[in-house]
Amino acid sequence: MAHRKLIGPFAQLLTMDNLPLRGPLADAGLEIIRNAGIVTEGENIVETGDFESLTQTSSKGNYEVERMPENLVALPGFIDAHTHICWAGSRAEDYSKRLQGKTYSEIAASGGGIWDTVIKTRKASLEELTDQLVTRAARHLSDGVTTIEVKSGYGLTVKDEIKMLRAIKRVNQHAVADLIPTCLAAHIRPKDFSKTNSEYLKMIRDELLPRVAEENLSRRVDIYTDEHAFSIKESEGYLNEAKSMGFDITVHADQFTGGGTRMAVRVGAVSADHLEVSGEKDIKTLAGSNVIPVTLPGSSLGLGAPFAPARKLLDGGCSLVIASDWNPGSAPMGDLLIQACILGMYEKLTLAETLAALTFRAAAALNLKEWGIIKPGYKADIIAFNLADYKEIIYNQGKVKPVKIWKNASLTE
Ligand code: NIG
Ligand code: FE
Repeated sequence: MAHRKLIGPFAQLLTMDNLPLRGPLADAGLEIIRNAGIVTEGENIVETGDFESLTQTSSKGNYEVERMPENLVALPGFIDAHTHICWAGSRAEDYSKRLQGKTYSEIAASGGGIWDTVIKTRKASLEELTDQLVTRAARHLSDGVTTIEVKSGYGLTVKDEIKMLRAIKRVNQHAVADLIPTCLAAHIRPKDFSKTNSEYLKMIRDELLPRVAEENLSRRVDIYTDEHAFSIKESEGYLNEAKSMGFDITVHADQFTGGGTRMAVRVGAVSADHLEVSGEKDIKTLAGSNVIPVTLPGSSLGLGAPFAPARKLLDGGCSLVIASDWNPGSAPMGDLLIQACILGMYEKLTLAETLAALTFRAAAALNLKEWGIIKPGYKADIIAFNLADYKEIIYNQGKVKPVKIWKNASLTE
């Protein structure tokens, strides 16, 4: 039998259970177990409830108690459903140009933007890429992010995309956090590819995606649909093909120009991410679909751009996920909790909506079943804050981080 133990007591255990995947959430709907214990077996949760009663069962069953010294507030580990944390080099130069008022196109034309990171990432060895990814994944974990989606997209040749995805796979084998890899070879058409966008997409579909599937490097395909990247038509054709090859689909949609979200719905994507320029029509279309909207406040903060209409999405009947978009260009901060707290205040999200956007709703955006809730059968990824009440997590605006983090039921350092 797998190793069984009782963890606790927790002054408050916020289970995030019994909440809908879509629509507004009231704080009163949050299930809070006081003086709680969590029984785990192997990597999973098998029971939750009153700590004292669980102690009696544990002594009869003769299993270990992992006793908590302080009054802690526990909840599911955060899930960051959208990052680009595998990269080499810095784009501080781009940032300073944005502060001088330069536009996206001006920065790209003067040698900055995504292409600059592509050049540096191509030059980096697998080891260098791996080292940087390890450092970022560890930092995210210590902030309470126990699951991290990571995109490729700074290689943009078959060889360099494979190098990135192998780096992510290698780090996933050693890192404490789970890394969920996504193939974003359709980030931009690389400047050294002399043919058209369609020919580039055809090349990656024919030469890269079969290898990604074969080597089991990723089960997800993403595209950047925008005026700076791929058109709606180009994106739709590529994504339909990727889908027929068995990949889950996600889209960088509606960041600067519209139409991407509605295309994501037509394709049957799992998520549509960004949505800064999404309007009423897009929200209605999303609400009538199974596509999960993922907002990226870190990108708005890094670009000085408006936030995605998170409140309207929820009120329109959609789900809502908040992810960091941590990348060297538009979102260099990479602090998911701070970003979620800021978005929450500007968009008037309830505590329940913000916490759901970082836990079980984020799990849905990655198609992860039985993650993001503290309940029997679910993965024992748990974080605990040394705070008097769960409300203080958001009240501290992300500055206060968890003091204990369990991944697969193991307490991390
Ligand atoms: O999600 N929008 C496109 N891609 C990234 C930016 C990546 C970069 O600038 O390096 C994003 O914001
Ligand atoms: Fe992104």
